[in-house]
Amino acid sequence: MNKTLPLVDDIRIPQMGFGTYALKDAKQATLHALQTGYRHLDTADYYRNHVEVGQAMQASGLRREEIFLVTKLYGNTLAPDKVGPVVDRFLKELDTDYIDLLLIHWLSGIPAEDSLAAMETSRAAGKVRALGVSNFEVEDMQAALATGLPVCNNQIEYNLEEHPEDVAEFCLANGVTVTAYSPVKVSGGAQTRKLVAGLAEKYESTAEQVTLAWLMAKGFIVIPRSNNPKHIESNFRSLELTLSKEDVAALDASE
Ligand SMILES: NC(=O)c1ccc[n+]([C@@H]2O[C@H](COP(=O)([O-])OP(=O)(O)OC[C@H]3O[C@@H](n4cnc5c(N)ncnc54)[C@H](OP(=O)(O)O)[C@@H]3O)[C@@H](O)[C@H]2O)c1
Repeated sequence: MNKTLPLVDDIRIPQMGFGTYALKDAKQATLHALQTGYRHLDTADYYRNHVEVGQAMQASGLRREEIFLVTKLYGNTLAPDKVGPVVDRFLKELDTDYIDLLLIHWLSGIPAEDSLAAMETSRAAGKVRALGVSNFEVEDMQAALATGLPVCNNQIEYNLEEHPEDVAEFCLANGVTVTAYSPVKVSGGAQTRKLVAGLAEKYESTAEQVTLAWLMAKGFIVIPRSNNPKHIESNFRSLELTLSKEDVAALDASE
């Protein structure tokens, strides 16, 4: 079972993705995720694992179009004259013809408008299918959307402890999808952990599954990361868990 959300034009993104930051064996864990059913991989130049992620895609035997691949530009590679050559390097490292979603990883002095314009050139050339950003605040999003370019995703930290409602609401209200990163790493304060433990018992699931199901019920894309095959599998099964409206609201209200 896999759920997708509309991203931009006729492109859809799987709501459950696999995070690949700092994995012990990125090829093995990513391959296990693909074998489990994940069809969305989240990597970044900063993670230094493009080659292993590309190898896992090849080893999976899946067709390229069955996988939704996200990667990110950071630092000096966001300079307008660098973006094109860097995208070509990404394609080689990832052993693919295109990236599904290319993000600005975080702002670092180069105006987002300039980087996005260069990223749009890669999109027009068919090397990238969709453009997005990460760690953008409301005013950064306003500037990005003012370019008129099809910015369709903001990847932000959102979990039981960190929940920036202003950015999330702004994005969703403006047709920008939100990817919640570090979705399970932070499990909230004592009261929240008690609430989640109770819900895990009620739904015969794990705390992580409850957390992921809560984020997906709110319309977010989630990208949990794990080295552990059992965790990779159980996180994926959160797609089967539907929390009641009351339980979603209780988690929303928890501190
Ligand atoms: N855009 C950005 O700036 C940004 C920043 C941070 C992260 N990200 C992306 O978001 C992804 C996820 O974020 P994250 O890696 O920070 O945190 P996360 O996925 O929320 O949490 C990962 C940690 O939780 C543990 N874990 C995962 N599933 C579990 C389960 N079912 N039971 C118990 N423990 C579990 C993992 O340990 P085990 O390995 O032992 O399972 C690992 O220590 C990253 O990999 C990356 O792709 C993006």
